[in-house]
Amino acid sequence: MLLNSISLTHFRSFPKSHFDFDGQTIAISGLNGSGKTNLLEAIYLLASAKSFRADVEEEMIQETQEVGHVKGKLYSHDHEKKEIEIVLTRGQVGGEKVSRKKFYVNGVSKQVTNFVGNLKAVIFGPWDLDLITGSPGLRRRYLDSVLIQTDREYHRALISYEKGLRQRNKLLEDIREKGASRHQLIFWNKLLIKNGNYLTNKREEFLSFLNLFKPFLNWQLSFLSRYDRSSISETRLQQYSQEEVAAGVTLVGPHRDNVEFFLERDDHNIDLSKFSSRGEQRLGVLWLKLSELEFLASSQESRPDRPVLLLDDIFSELDHRHRELVITTIGKQQTFITGADDHLFPNFNSKIQLIRL
Ligand SMILES: Nc1ncnc2c1ncn2[C@@H]1O[C@H](COP(=O)(O)OP(=O)(O)O)[C@@H](O)[C@H]1O
Ligand SMILES: [Mg+2]
Repeated sequence: MLLNSISLTHFRSFPKSHFDFDGQTIAISGLNGSGKTNLLEAIYLLASAKSFRADVEEEMIQETQEVGHVKGKLYSHDHEKKEIEIVLTRGQVGGEKVSRKKFYVNGVSKQVTNFVGNLKAVIFGPWDLDLITGSPGLRRRYLDSVLIQTDREYHRALISYEKGLRQRNKLLEDIREKGASRHQLIFWNKLLIKNGNYLTNKREEFLSFLNLFKPFLNWQLSFLSRYDRSSISETRLQQYSQEEVAAGVTLVGPHRDNVEFFLERDDHNIDLSKFSSRGEQRLGVLWLKLSELEFLASSQESRPDRPVLLLDDIFSELDHRHRELVITTIGKQQTFITGADDHLFPNFNSKIQLIRL
């Protein structure tokens, strides 16, 4: 998979910019605040239809503007060309209500589930340490961002599950507050069980893949993930039915999942979030990201198109050995690397394109 060019209009700090990418490796340099992360965010947006950092997605639209555009030209392994575009709004244009996000492939409007997956991408930056140390919600969101790119059905199930969850929670509240009938729960239970189990199974598949992936060959370092799943079934829902009405929220299901990461040792495994050094945590994230890259590359639909790799300011934080490991990986697919200064980029053997912001 190659991203040939990207055009940004009123996206973050870019009023109107166009970038052509002619190389396999693209180094982007610029001072702090020059827009390096913004540019990678735009590329990742084309892949996942979401910002990897903004909770409020309209923050991606340039200040004072109503509409932002990101358009990318893709070139796939089988010489297929595609133009994909996202249009962002704040929900209103010229006083009229419009959708916040619209998706186009070759100029034709698409649903989000048919948009995601055209471009596959892995993004890796200093914030990813939060995947180890942060809340379970971050890790769930991470799993989703990977799996929606490889599996359209996962994306559909996720959207349906999240909608159903909101409805079911509302109903639980109505049962508690207004004495609404429990009968309607049957419908939502079925919907959540069906979609929830799909999500759980796919999350399980990805996490099992991680556990088999050992990028640090011969380095006596290996990591493990443990899936702490909250299964959803009739029996489990039955079991929690009293508490759920009292709480007014659904207490079991993949929205309550967690994942833990461990550093493998001969006699015992060390919980990365609690008992390991910052350096070990960084390597844990590196393992996670390299595994994710191979997972996306090996997924049925994308073969033989490898995902694009987006590396934001990561070299300063790695020791030379792990820099080498990343550098070896860089040549395998189109890779975008940012750094504050040209001399911070590692020495590559391959030809690189330098973009100065
Ligand atoms: N919605 C927005 N509108 C205008 N400018 C923005 C918006 N969001 C972020 N910026 C600006 O983008 C800059 C940060 O860009 P960033 O890509 O993070 O820089 P860096 O090169 O350090 O990675 C800041 O100056 C910030 O004010
Ligand atoms: Mg940055």
